[in-house]
Amino acid sequence: MTAANILSATSENIVTAARLVNEGKLVAFPTETVYGLGADATNDEAVASVFSAKARPTFNPLIIHFKDMDAAARAVTFNERAERLAGAIWPGSLTLVLPRRPECEISLLAAAGLDSLAVRVPGDDVALTLLREAGCPLTAPSANRSGDVSPTTAAHVAESLGDAVEVILDGGPSRVGIESAIVDLTDETTVVLRPGAVAMKNIEALAGPVASACAAPCAGPPASGRKASFAARHYTTGLPLRLNVAEAQLGEAFLAFGPDAREGDAAHMLNLSPAGDFREAAANLFSMLHELDSPEYYSIAVMPIPEDGLGRAINDRLRRVAGHS
Ligand code: TXA
Ligand code: MG
Repeated sequence: MTAANILSATSENIVTAARLVNEGKLVAFPTETVYGLGADATNDEAVASVFSAKARPTFNPLIIHFKDMDAAARAVTFNERAERLAGAIWPGSLTLVLPRRPECEISLLAAAGLDSLAVRVPGDDVALTLLREAGCPLTAPSANRSGDVSPTTAAHVAESLGDAVEVILDGGPSRVGIESAIVDLTDETTVVLRPGAVAMKNIEALAGPVASACAAPCAGPPASGRKASFAARHYTTGLPLRLNVAEAQLGEAFLAFGPDAREGDAAHMLNLSPAGDFREAAANLFSMLHELDSPEYYSIAVMPIPEDGLGRAINDRLRRVAGHS
């Protein structure tokens, strides 16, 4: 375990952390629920580093943290239920899933290409100061490697992530200690995707009746909500996707990977990473899929991507988009 990168959360150290975030680096920071792994949410490469630091096998969409409700309202559209919930509970332990605005600046990779976004204003002074100093929204999945439990102290973060994170801001033990409740408000029905630190009855009092997406009993681990929410809707292209294709056919768009890519008969080729770098490929994945998903072409052919490191996550998302899983 390394403790060298733990800094106590003084004003000076928060400014240092904010500067690192602006340089595209990863910074773990305290929130009132659990410690989060922060990166500039508008920076595709930084967001790709979040997935690689956590060694997440899939691009599970991340919660985006904002300094206040106005900042969140620039990224997503609030309806009346969302305004009531956020007005009463933010800053606090409630995450709202809302439709992404067309002009939203958040990385498509952060939300795994979905047209909704999970947003929260955390109820912790260190987190809020960091958000204000950085001047950008931050990703904040729990600051642990995939499979480890959520960290509630800086030492937990260091044990789990070690050097994968540039700096860990130490704000003492998390006040709440369990993750935020996640409520999906993207359509008429209010759905609790993950029970959490805010009680269901408080949510109902503000937003009316709620449905639960959790497998019974709903008090189970966060993973139940995670699976339900993640599997329920995912990004699909309008065009069919052909995976593991070495060369595109006439009129196809071609999503290539690595130095051996050949444009051949493709109508248009984009390379996820000419150098064969997974982090760069992950950062480009969703924006390139969007760009190639055009009626000018009849399908999108995708070159094979090795099942290795972030390559596994990229393949998982490609299979979902293609409707294979
Ligand atoms: O308390 C918390 O929420 C902590 C602290 C650090 O803020 N963060 C946290 O993030 O628990 P994470 O990444 O471990 O959990 C994110 C959850 C996942 O279950 C994911 O599937 C869901 O949020 N999620 C994110 N975006 C979504 C979306 N657009 N639609 C549905 N679910 C979404
Ligand atoms: Mg987590």
